Amino acid sequence: MKNSLGAVQSVLVLGGDSDIAFATLRELICARTRTIILAGRSPERLEARAADLRELGATSVEVTHFDGADTGSHEAFVDQVFSHNGDVDLVFVAFGTLGSQMEDELDRERTLTVIQSNYVGAVSVLIPIAAALKHQGHGTIVVMSTVAAERPRRSNYIYGSSKAGIDWFAQGLGDALKGSGVNVMIVRPGFVKSKMTSHMEDAPLAATPEEVAQAIVAGLRRNHEMVWVPGKIRWVMSVLRHLPRAIFRRLNL
Ligand SMILES: NC(=O)c1ccc[n+]([C@@H]2O[C@H](COP(=O)([O-])OP(=O)(O)OC[C@H]3O[C@@H](n4cnc5c(N)ncnc54)[C@H](OP(=O)(O)O)[C@@H]3O)[C@@H](O)[C@H]2O)c1
Repeated sequence: MKNSLGAVQSVLVLGGDSDIAFATLRELICARTRTIILAGRSPERLEARAADLRELGATSVEVTHFDGADTGSHEAFVDQVFSHNGDVDLVFVAFGTLGSQMEDELDRERTLTVIQSNYVGAVSVLIPIAAALKHQGHGTIVVMSTVAAERPRRSNYIYGSSKAGIDWFAQGLGDALKGSGVNVMIVRPGFVKSKMTSHMEDAPLAATPEEVAQAIVAGLRRNHEMVWVPGKIRWVMSVLRHLPRAIFRRLNL
């Protein structure tokens, strides 16, 4: 349960080794979050994150295996987490894979890996998560989307379309959960300097994981349903979204 000041006390992170998730957890610990469950594919890396979080003041940090692409395991995973840990105030759906557009578009299997993880896998785990939060009567789901969800571009349409899928699913899920005590907040950052993008040059309006984390925590405090990072990128994307196709194509984005 959130405490009497409305602060999140317990968090489940899917994609527990994410740089953005880690920066967000640091902010949340400052705001009195104490119980954390890190779920991801690499137990060793999660254990290292867990040790850092305990040092920062979290009193209970557990690590558990979770693969977003392994949809067959998701219902049992959610059952196990909620039966073992009790109430969860916040579920942070942070996992995502960028892939490599130029290589992936030449390889059907590689394309499907991105779609399976970012879209199918995220939908698959969100369904039992939403049911579990609805059953407990409260909770917030934060879903990491991206500005690419607004209008997929030539240079990253595989990733962009997978994120557009989960973004729009999460919007509908938020509408369906209205009145249940469960809220959905979608986060749309532009380029973030995390390990996902460490091989790339910074794009305009690049943000740090810490800036994304601060925007997420501010969005949670204000009960926002959509958070853009940085805020002004919303207006850039609004212009791009409304450009006629022929002009958009010539921009070669
Ligand atoms: N960085 C950006 O520019 C940017 C911009 C907009 C949105 N986002 C989104 O923000 C989220 C967090 O990204 P980040 O920047 O923090 O990058 P990150 O540090 O690379 O974190 C991404 C995490 O997703 C995990 N992951 C990928 N596929 C998975 C799967 N099938 N099952 C479980 N975990 C999986 C990775 O785990 P492994 O270590 O096991 O691979 C990694 O821990 C992602 O959803 C990303 O799409 C990022």
